[in-house]
Amino acid sequence: MISLDLQGHKALITGASGGLGGAIAKTLAKAGAHVAVHYRKGQIEADAVVSAITAQGGLAHTFQADLSDPKAAAQLIQDVEAALGGLDILVNNAGMDGVHALVGDDNPDLWEKVVAVDLFGPYYCARAALSHMEKSQRGVIINITSVHEFIPWEGYSAYTSAKAGLSMLTKTLAQESADKGIRVVAVAPGAIQTSINRPVWSNPESLKDLNEKIAMGRMGKPEEIANAVAFLASDLASYITGTTLAVDGGMLIYPEFRHGG
Ligand code: BGC
Repeated sequence: MISLDLQGHKALITGASGGLGGAIAKTLAKAGAHVAVHYRKGQIEADAVVSAITAQGGLAHTFQADLSDPKAAAQLIQDVEAALGGLDILVNNAGMDGVHALVGDDNPDLWEKVVAVDLFGPYYCARAALSHMEKSQRGVIINITSVHEFIPWEGYSAYTSAKAGLSMLTKTLAQESADKGIRVVAVAPGAIQTSINRPVWSNPESLKDLNEKIAMGRMGKPEEIANAVAFLASDLASYITGTTLAVDGGMLIYPEFRHGG
């Protein structure tokens, strides 16, 4: 029997108060990992994730930090390391879409904030985690990008730029770390039903438009991303590094090209 076993592993999931991060934390815990549930503002949601995990007999703790601040990110990694007694799985999940605005009509401060959270945050966490992982010569860093590391998205230039940057950070870090026993991979979710895109899926017209952009014709569930993350974090993925796994129901296969052309 094949088994996905994370027993004995220590994992930090950033932005785990949200739908995607919460599902990832629960799934990694279910596979046996001791998990650190990071949040910035959503303490109630983060506590609920920890309660759900401990109710199932798992191990989890919450940690608060603003990851756009390099000192706070480094402190978080140090705190998690101390509390869990190590860190060998880092899931850089925390992120934001930002406000819809075309370049020129937008606000440079808001643009910078999105890049700070979506690209600098993962970079700060990765660089702090690497020094711990290098010592033990084992570790996996999983960056949650998006189909928008590939697909341009009108009104979200900061988001697409940050996610494309995070993809290249993944590859470069993987290249730097492969001989140290550390794998670095990205997961690119498509449209996963969480609060981030509630305005889209709560409106029947925009939901129909979105579903037409997905070959499978439906949005994804957070657990469908979490399962992919658990696989990549495990030894089942021992030969996978420096690449992006799209988990998008076929958004990247241009379903609109089923006709015409
Ligand atoms: C965004 C969602 C969006 C999805 C598909 C994700 O990266 O966070 O808001 O629905 O991409 O466009």
